[in-house]
Order: sequence, then structure tokens, then C-alpha cells
Amino acid sequence: MFIVVGVTGGIAAYKAVQVVRLLVLQGHEVHVVPTDDALRFVGLPTWEAISRHPVTTSVHDDVPQVRHVALGRSADLVVVAPATANSLAKMAAGLADDLLGTTLLATTAPVVVAPAMHTEMWRHPATVQNMATLVARGVHVVGPAEGALTGGDAGPGRMSEPEEIVGAALALAGRTRDLAGLRVVVSAGGTREPIDPVRFIGNRSSGRQGVALARAAAERGAEVVLVAAHIDGDVASGAAHPGVEVRRARTTAELADAVQDAAASADVVVMAAAVADYRPAEAADRKLTKESSRGRRRMLELVETEDVLKALVGGRRPGQTIVGFAAETAPDRRELLERGRRKAARKGADLLAVNEVGWTTGFETPDNAVLILSADGALVAEASGTKREVADALWDTVISVRGTEQ
Ligand code: CTP
Repeated sequence: MFIVVGVTGGIAAYKAVQVVRLLVLQGHEVHVVPTDDALRFVGLPTWEAISRHPVTTSVHDDVPQVRHVALGRSADLVVVAPATANSLAKMAAGLADDLLGTTLLATTAPVVVAPAMHTEMWRHPATVQNMATLVARGVHVVGPAEGALTGGDAGPGRMSEPEEIVGAALALAGRTRDLAGLRVVVSAGGTREPIDPVRFIGNRSSGRQGVALARAAAERGAEVVLVAAHIDGDVASGAAHPGVEVRRARTTAELADAVQDAAASADVVVMAAAVADYRPAEAADRKLTKESSRGRRRMLELVETEDVLKALVGGRRPGQTIVGFAAETAPDRRELLERGRRKAARKGADLLAVNEVGWTTGFETPDNAVLILSADGALVAEASGTKREVADALWDTVISVRGTEQ
């Protein structure tokens, strides 16, 4: 594998030598891209000797080879270790004032960062926000670990051990192509059913889980159509990947059309969107006013929408795998499973990912936890963690059920 290791200016740069060494020993072609600051901690000859390749920090070296984009284009994997608070801020902003910056902008390979900084810097809202931006964009994070820091202080901020970084990075890259050749449709976000030109019936879905599913599938080699209902602010940027085509859908009817259209040539369809079950029978042409209501009550007549998932199951192509989601409010796991089983039987999808939701759980959060049921209601997998981790676990399950069916 062609691996770029970015090294930024923190004392943990000395541990990055071991990261490069482990990767080289495993037979990978490793190109080190240090920042100028990193070279104050570990010098250029060390990186060249250990990687067995020439090393530069500047976009002005090796210009005929267009090195500032060539490395990023060739990379199968990019690891940034250590990733300082400053370098993470630059990545989040997309700055490209050195070779590492241009390489990161030019690559579509998976990117793994191993943050290293003092606890205060790690917890600063600026860093927290930068990390959220990077994670939403699909960057993978290893660590930081808790432990002794260089000032004699202790806490989260220590770079993870080289073995852990290498293990996580290779595991990620190793499975990146396991969905190659598959055409996948993912619906995400919440539909909005108009009441009048300014109001709608919507829901709290942010689209994070669906976007993470689309992104994960594209990174693992699938060709993805993301049918996006309403998605929160910067969440949609997480789907920016050459393997993802985004199609917008506002209402359930639009979503049904877009999903059906894309599903006609898809191998896997995942209905992660929170789809309205009812819509106003009629959307008013003009804004409804209090004057037009009778007394202090207004009746809104609702009609059922099409069940997109059920229709997909009804018209399933041979070999097509269909996955549904079920957001349930349940007091405990037993009840959650029971509700999930009933829904699995009702919907007939190959897999149903059941998650608990409530006033404070499930929606608008970076984390999720799902129980994955098969069509007959059997619990086939469980996953929790970031929405990206849950997405990867769901794709692992999709691969395993497709493997047993074929
Ligand atoms: N779904 C759909 N079309 C609808 C409603 C839901 O395709 N009109 C899909 C969702 O995308 C999800 C699954 O069906 O994958 C379950 O959605 P959910 O709202 O939990 O199920 P409902 O059938 O609406 O059941 P409930 O009575 O629990 O709301």
C-alpha cells in the first residue's frame, strides 16, 4: 500500500518514527511529509532513513512531478501522527500552505489522525469544534490516550501508542475496498411535509447516521447515491466524496421517487431517513392565518404517506439487500427488541437497525447504538459508538448476510 505519514510539530513526533518503521516493516511504501515545525523535533535524515524515500516539507520542491498533489493522489491511506491542535485547525479549515496541507486536500484516501496535545488544548471549544468538523467529514481519529504529558501534567492528550495507530489505520485501509463493485442507495435526514408555504411537519433527524453510512460505503469502494431529505447544517459536508452522488428530496413523495429510481439499479438500499408517516391532506397555497381559524383550535387533516421501505421490499430485485431503521422509544432493551421484532416482521427488510430514541438520545448526537435484526427477528449484530462506527458495523453485517445468501 502507498501510505503517506504526515508528521506535525509536537514532541510525540519521536513516537511517529516508530509508526513509520512499523509500516515499512510490514512492506508498505511509506512517504513521510513532516511540517517545518515537526523537523525541529525529529530531523529530515531520520525520516528519510526510516522511510527509505526522500522527504520534503515544501510545495516548491520537486515541482515537475507536481508533488503537492501527486502524493495525495497516489495515497491509499494518510496517517497524521502526531496531529497537533494547530494542524487539526488547519485541516478543518482546509489550509494548504505546506506540502502536508496540499496532500490532504488532494487525497480521497481514508485519513487517520492521532491527536497529541495538552488536555486544556484538547478540551478547548475551538479544538472540539475542529474535531467535530473533521469527524463529520469522514476523518478517523485514534486517541488521544490518557496519561502523563510532557509538562509533568496528566490527562487526555497523549498520542496513542504507535502499534495502536498502525493497527487502526491498517484495519481501516484493509477493508476500504470490501464494497467495491456494489451500487448502494442510502436515504438520510428528515422529510418535511408542507402545511402552507412557510410551515411543515418535520422531525428531529439530523441526517448524521445516513451521511455516515453513505461516506463509509464510498470509502469502502461502493458507488453511492445519497437521497438526502432535510439534513442539518454542516452534516451534509460529510458526504463530500467522489463516490457519493447526492440527490435532494424534500417530502416523502419526492423521497419515494428518488429512492425508487436509484433502487432500480442498486445492490443495497438502506432507508436511514426519518420519513413522515402522515402529511397534511392539502398544503395551503397561502400562509394560514389566525383570522382564518375557528376559535382557538385549528384542525389539520392528515393522510398516510407511502411506506417507501415496504414498497422497496415488495419490488425487490433479485440479489438486492434492503435495510431499514427503526427509531423506538422503549423503557428497556427487552421492550426495544420486542418492538424491533414486530417491525422487522411488518416491514420484511433483510436487516432492521433498531435504535432507542428519546428527548435526549438518538437525535442530533454524534453517537448511536443499534441492535441489528434479520427479517425473522433474530438479533444478528449490535453496534455502538460514533455514527461512523455504527455505519461500518452495519456494512460489515450487510456483507455477511449477502455472503451467506449467495
Ligand atoms: N419508512 C418508509 N416510509 C415511511 C415511513 C417509514 O420507508 N412512510 C422507513 C424508514 O426510513 C425506516 C423504517 O421505515 O427505515 C421504519 O420507520 P418507522 O417510522 O420507525 O416505522 P413506521 O412504519 O412508521 O412504524 P411506526 O408505527 O413505529 O411509526
